[in-house]
Amino acid sequence: MIRVQNLIKVYGERRAVDGISFAIDEGEIVGFLGPNGAGKTTTLRILTCYMPATDGNATIGGYDVFTQSMQVRKIVGYLPESTPLDMHSRVREYLNFRGKIRGLDRTAREAAIRRVTELCWLGDFINRPINQLSKGMKQRVGLADALLHDPKVLILDEPTIGLDPTQIRETRNLIRELAKRHTVLLSSHILPEVEATCQRTIIIAAGKIVASGSPDELKERIRGGSRLIAEVSGPNSEIKQEIGKLDGVTGVEVHTDNGWHRLTIDTQRGRDPREDIFKLVKQRNWSLRELRLEVGSLEEFFVQITAQQMQEQRARKEVRA
Ligand SMILES: Nc1ncnc2c1ncn2[C@@H]1O[C@H](COP(=O)(O)OP(=O)(O)OP(=O)(O)O)[C@@H](O)[C@H]1O
Ligand SMILES: [Mg+2]
Repeated sequence: MIRVQNLIKVYGERRAVDGISFAIDEGEIVGFLGPNGAGKTTTLRILTCYMPATDGNATIGGYDVFTQSMQVRKIVGYLPESTPLDMHSRVREYLNFRGKIRGLDRTAREAAIRRVTELCWLGDFINRPINQLSKGMKQRVGLADALLHDPKVLILDEPTIGLDPTQIRETRNLIRELAKRHTVLLSSHILPEVEATCQRTIIIAAGKIVASGSPDELKERIRGGSRLIAEVSGPNSEIKQEIGKLDGVTGVEVHTDNGWHRLTIDTQRGRDPREDIFKLVKQRNWSLRELRLEVGSLEEFFVQITAQQMQEQRARKEVRA
């Protein structure tokens, strides 16, 4: 549904988007995750025909975003980073006005407003002036606006930024609901956000894609060499030595507290010696009260790879300078 090939956007000296490519199939809900300044908004603006790219190709529903922008706008609903709502009008008036701009006739507008009001739970404040609404409600008006022409594709730029936890939860539920009928691409710099709503995540840093996959696949990538935590009681030096000799173990660190030795055990990639540890403990008659695999968090991974990317970018700049 969305195809992006080697997209580049240069602002003066700065490469905000530096040759990114990805594809999103119909019905997918994909998170575009990256730190501030990564190039998320720039990419989404190019996809929604608000801005031309410097180079590369992008199509939505088969239409080229550069040469067929009218067709693209018809099938895409866009929630920009800050929604430019008309603060003085009432919700219904505003949506009516936006429907007119999109060329919907009176009957079509009324039907569309009824549909999005229900979809975005706007019923209670459809007649309220927009400037009296809370941030979360305004965000829903922005979403309703993006949905007026019943687009196949929804592109949402940081849809929950600045909302309180309850509103965040409501908006996430709403997005998940919308994803049943629409293809969704949403951006965020908050990892739990995409983890909670998206089937797939594309991680972008300094204008480049650094990783992509389902949350589980990304976690799998972090696992690499993994780490075990064990709490054992028995003779300290013996425990450290014996566990250190087990197949697949690359290092053991011990902290002792109240007679219990808390071991941090590093292992080779893909090795899980928990069973051997258990057997050893049993054989030696030591006691065991914890034994678990510590999987790196997606957050750790995110911080790790985005930091790496920034560093590489700085190094490239220094070489050029
Ligand atoms: N109109 C512009 N002129 C010059 N530079 C710009 C312009 N818009 C964005 N940039 C730069 O391009 C880079 C990418 O910006 P962009 O807004 O796409 O990032 P983002 O990933 O959306 O960040 P955020 O999470 O803060 O919204 C940044 O370094 C930004 O300073
Ligand atoms: Mg942005």
